[in-house]
Order: sequence, then structure tokens, then C-alpha cells
Amino acid sequence: MPLSAATRQKIDKAIAKYPAGRQQSAVMAALTIAQTEHGWLSSETLREVAEYLNMPPVAVYEVASFYSMYHLKPMGRYVLTLCTNLPCALQGSDVAARYLQETLKIGWKETTPDGMFTLLQGECMGACQEAPVLLANHQRMCCKMTPPQIDALLVQLRAEASQEERHE
Ligand code: FES
Repeated sequence: MPLSAATRQKIDKAIAKYPAGRQQSAVMAALTIAQTEHGWLSSETLREVAEYLNMPPVAVYEVASFYSMYHLKPMGRYVLTLCTNLPCALQGSDVAARYLQETLKIGWKETTPDGMFTLLQGECMGACQEAPVLLANHQRMCCKMTPPQIDALLVQLRAEASQEERHE
């Protein structure tokens, strides 16, 4: 699916932060914007971003494949990344992990059959004092994720999804 006009406008804004002719510096922002639109980065999307930034497609692929926050295959509508590093583990990320897996009935790197949630393990998110920490779609940081907090988040995300669908 091609990049929408709205996405191109956002990429233009990212490009404008750099000197003329240095549009390649916006590659990470452009990939993030494109991923936000499509949920993942297909080879078609990578090619489009490369063309838009006047970069070799392989250079864009190198960036997209290096960072774990870019997804090169389809993901759920909400990607839930739970930090499992030691400080979070000491504060109950193992409990949170088990609870998420049992509640969603999926393992790591799996997506619920309704396409709503993908579960990933993550590295330290720099908020150890708020452990256990979970990132929703790499943007929303959720802290102290005990089972009741997880339940509340899942309810909230499902409600947001159905609200968005009503407006589509
Ligand atoms: S170890 Fe989990 S946020 Fe730092």
C-alpha cells in the first residue's frame, strides 16, 4: 500500500529539520512515520521511503533491519513490548509476562488471532524505577504493570481500537 499524502507531509516535516540536500538524515523518522501508517514496513514501503529520500533501497533496509522497533513483517494493531531486563525482572516482569501470555493466549513474537496484540520482549527502557515497564506501540510507556494494570491497559486499547474503527 503506497504512503498516504498525510504520511508524506509528515515525512516532509522531518526532512525540513535538516539542511537542504540532507534528506537522508530523516530516514529513521520517515521509517517510523511509515510504520505508524501501515503497522509494519513491507519491502514496498521500504522502497517508497528510499525513493522519497533519494537513498539506495539497501541503505534503508539496513536501518530498518538494525533497530528492533522497526517491524519487517505484519504485527498486531498494538505491539506490547515488555521489558524483561534484570531490574524489571526483580520487580515482577516475570509475573507480567506470564499474565500477558495466559490472558492473550500467545507467546513471545506471536499475535492474537484477531490481529489486535503482538507480544515482544524488550530491553531496558530507562524507567527501571517504574518496573515492570511495558511499551505499547513503542510510544506509550506503561509503568508498574501488575495484572490489574495489564487488564486495564488491554481494555483501554480495545476500546481505542473500536473507537478508531467507528471513525474510519
Ligand atoms: S530494566 Fe526495565 S526499564 Fe530498565
